[in-house]
Amino acid sequence: MKPVIEISNLFFSYPDGKRALEDVNLQVNAGEKIALVGANGAGKSTLLLHLNGIFDGTGKVTIDSLPVNKDNLRQIRAIVGVVFQNPDDQLFSSTVNEDVAYGLIYQGLDKKLIAERVDQALQAVGMGEAGERNPYHLSGGEKKRIAIATVLSMQPQILVFDEPTSGLDPRARRELIDLLQELPQTILIATHDLGLVEKLTSRTVIMDQGRIVADGSTSVILNDETLLLAHGLR
Ligand SMILES: Nc1ncnc2c1ncn2[C@@H]1O[C@H](COP(=O)(O)OP(=O)(O)OP(=O)(O)O)[C@@H](O)[C@H]1O
Ligand SMILES: [Mg+2]
Repeated sequence: MKPVIEISNLFFSYPDGKRALEDVNLQVNAGEKIALVGANGAGKSTLLLHLNGIFDGTGKVTIDSLPVNKDNLRQIRAIVGVVFQNPDDQLFSSTVNEDVAYGLIYQGLDKKLIAERVDQALQAVGMGEAGERNPYHLSGGEKKRIAIATVLSMQPQILVFDEPTSGLDPRARRELIDLLQELPQTILIATHDLGLVEKLTSRTVIMDQGRIVADGSTSVILNDETLLLAHGLR
């Protein structure tokens, strides 16, 4: 089976010279649910933003055998949906409905299907009543849920989440984990929520200072106290 995500020898520095990724190599197979963990500043968000071409480091990133580059961006973004760490980066319309419909309109789907998908995605995040509200006026956790809905509505083949449970109340967190468990898609999640990692993922990747320092079974990694301590996870 060919991996759906292939990252080889990826290096990236920010414009101010800060080196954020150092020779990252990762292969993800279709249907895998993978956690990406690591201390603050380890490079998790930076890595995820390479998967849909927001950042462009040196090395190779392919999605479904397509190299991530300017020419393929439209196709890549139809395959990979990314929920950003900060929901304010994802919400820009004057109503929740418009934000959740945005990508679907861009894909050219018909109105009726768009309305169905928007409704379904809002229900899935427990925000079925919020369609007419202004995203700007929502609470932090409500924004987070809408940001998740904007990506769920697209039903992309690969779902990428950056800290999906941060700011969620316990019930919303549990419902999100239940929802993600049911989804057949390939899922990659950067998180500090080790409870989510344990419940949802079978494979865990640890990053430290821009490098992948461990990649293995979640149950083995979460039981390795020495490893977790060494990388600031305990
Ligand atoms: N715009 C930027 N300019 C310069 N350096 C940056 C920028 N954004 C992030 N960095 C640096 O790059 C490194 C990786 O940051 P990144 O946001 O990927 O970490 P992270 O693992 O997602 O951390 P967190 O757990 O806090 O979300 C950090 O040292 C950070 O300070
Ligand atoms: Mg981050």
